Amino acid sequence: MKTKVKSIEHLVENMNAEEMKDLMNEYNIKSPITGNDLSDPMEFNLMFSTSIGPTGTLKGFLRPETAQGIFVNFKRLLEFNQGKLPFAAAQIGNAFRNEISPRSGLIRVREFTMAEIEHFCEKDLKDHPKFDTVKDLQVTLYSACNQMEGKLPEEKTIGQAVGQGLIANQTLGYFMARIYLFMVKVGVNPMKLRFRQHLSNEMAHYARDCWDAECKTSYGWVECVGCADRSCYDLMAHTKATNIKLVAEKKLAQPISFCDIVDLVPKKGIIGKEFRKEAKQVIEALTNLNSDDVTAVETAIIEEITPSVIEPSFGIGRIMYAILEHNFHIREGDEQRSWLSLPPVVAPYKCSVLPLSNNPDFESFVKQLSESLTRFEVSHKVDASSGSIGRRYARTGPNSHTFWYNCGL
Ligand code: GAP
Repeated sequence: MKTKVKSIEHLVENMNAEEMKDLMNEYNIKSPITGNDLSDPMEFNLMFSTSIGPTGTLKGFLRPETAQGIFVNFKRLLEFNQGKLPFAAAQIGNAFRNEISPRSGLIRVREFTMAEIEHFCEKDLKDHPKFDTVKDLQVTLYSACNQMEGKLPEEKTIGQAVGQGLIANQTLGYFMARIYLFMVKVGVNPMKLRFRQHLSNEMAHYARDCWDAECKTSYGWVECVGCADRSCYDLMAHTKATNIKLVAEKKLAQPISFCDIVDLVPKKGIIGKEFRKEAKQVIEALTNLNSDDVTAVETAIIEEITPSVIEPSFGIGRIMYAILEHNFHIREGDEQRSWLSLPPVVAPYKCSVLPLSNNPDFESFVKQLSESLTRFEVSHKVDASSGSIGRRYARTGPNSHTFWYNCGL
């Protein structure tokens, strides 16, 4: 019985409520703790609804991801990038999900901080110009295939995984590598970090390929960052709902010609709407173009592209939780003595270099010390003013943070 249930477990996510009910009846499934009967499965919305405005008649939903704010601003973002692909935008903010059972501290909550990057590129041009800088990075990959076959995760370089077609394309691979480097930099233990590929039944409806960066914690392997190839799903969906084209334009390197004769047929309806009184003149001018003019128009023909999106999506609370767990140590035999080994880049410590004398011979030492702190990414300030040491020490307190300078991050 247990083996049979295990074998159909992965099908459940794709079932509708009726199918789930039949399955529950077939296997006589009860509450695992009390043995009580379970209620029938029902559909529910993962988004929190609310009413907008004074009358409350306008229905709205709290965002379950920051991503959509970037998609609706696509046209403006494209403009900032001179209309060219690829480009990326990033956003950090709150997201809200009507989770059935929030639990485990910061791991599953109904309001959490997300940080998302949307990288827009052409559907067929997913090579990344900086791929070479990360291709030799070794990561632990738990492919969908290995999960289905009960095999273990494997070590591979990002270059091998993309080359073998395991990771769908270079851009996805590039962002996975950057996620790895970021996670390790902020204090995640690389031995407790792996990328798990989504199985086809857990892949979001929009995703082509998706890998989760998972961290091993006392709660088991926890998804901390998702990295998905969302294809052009979102921009298409917004266009469908609003009738506003969210596309980039690309000048064709080679004009596409289907036959030798190029005919320019003005669309009178559209021209009429756009040019109103002048429409007649526009149509006349187009109709009277000579063959050279027509060729010039033809060579300038542009293709409209709905960009694809590669999206790294960071759950900040979960990452912080993993960092704290991976860096918390207890002295053996003396449990009262505990410490955190946070990397300087995230440690809440700042440093001050306060020369005790203004003898010019000290200047080179102060410079050397400051450079070393910068190299180790310790946020610090040098205060060589003539105030007493006590006064300068006080000045470096929490209220004088405007004096701190960031060490090249
Ligand atoms: N835009 C893609 C997206 O929303 P997701 O995997 O559903 O992807 C991204 O969420 C990240 O947000 C997850 O990797 C996880 O770290 C975090 N996350 C998701 N649901 C969460 C919850 N209920 N509580 C805390 N963090 C959550």
